[in-house]
Amino acid sequence: MRFSPLLLLLGIEFAILSSGAHDLAAEEKVAEKAGWYMGRQIARTMSYHGADWLIRNSREREEEPQRLLDALHLKPGQQVGDYGCGNGFYAIRLAHLVGPKGKVFAVDIQQEMLDLLDARCKARGIGNVQPVLATEKDSRLQAHKLDWLLMVDVYHELSYPGEVLGEIRKSLNPHGRVALVEFREEDPTVPIKPLHKMSQAQALKELTANGFKLVGQFDGMPWQHVLFFARDDSPRPSVQLAAWNAAESEPE
Ligand SMILES: C[S@@+](CC[C@H](N)C(=O)[O-])C[C@H]1O[C@@H](n2cnc3c(N)ncnc32)[C@H](O)[C@@H]1O
Repeated sequence: MRFSPLLLLLGIEFAILSSGAHDLAAEEKVAEKAGWYMGRQIARTMSYHGADWLIRNSREREEEPQRLLDALHLKPGQQVGDYGCGNGFYAIRLAHLVGPKGKVFAVDIQQEMLDLLDARCKARGIGNVQPVLATEKDSRLQAHKLDWLLMVDVYHELSYPGEVLGEIRKSLNPHGRVALVEFREEDPTVPIKPLHKMSQAQALKELTANGFKLVGQFDGMPWQHVLFFARDDSPRPSVQLAAWNAAESEPE
């Protein structure tokens, strides 16, 4: 799919520091939601018009996704969800890691994002990514299936976080985990608009209020927090949050 330069610019605007115009469809969506959840303002949904920003050349250098993937210790054959997958920056990497016997359920509310993802999978001969068209409240995922569910830069823009967390909780198997990845609100050096960042404390508050417990964390990303959650009835032991510390978290 080709985007006009204007649309592309409008889509990219969503997260980087500048404010201002966004594409009209996305603005209408914002007007509908413009909500708050547990003291946090919900961000606008990123339009598919900005999808190229998700696969920009600089993303590897800025986010170092391999650090996150290594921290998941994925195994061939596992069933993994990529919630709010966009055009598949992570879904494609996950597909390689779980291999042909594993599966990636790539969930998004924008069919256009799923179409872009599908085209990128086909171009690479990847056959183990299943696109799943969700609604804002219904994940359309099967129950008790997933070993991992990854959410990268998505949670802060869910219109109905409580409902979606309920769906995600159901989709995990008893040992399944959620990797919640959000830009660090505590860190002024992260060049992302405040509405698109989240603090560890806020994430913990919202997840624990919705039937999850913290079971791990990874502080080795350049810009993002990574918190691992399991269902609160999972046999996995819970852990205490270690507050983010700039000095200790510098990637090497
Ligand atoms: C900022 S993009 C991130 C995409 C991808 N995770 C990545 O890191 O490249 C956020 C994505 O979340 C999707 N999204 C927003 N609300 C959603 C919801 N309730 N359910 C599923 N996807 C949602 C948007 O359509 C968009 O594709």
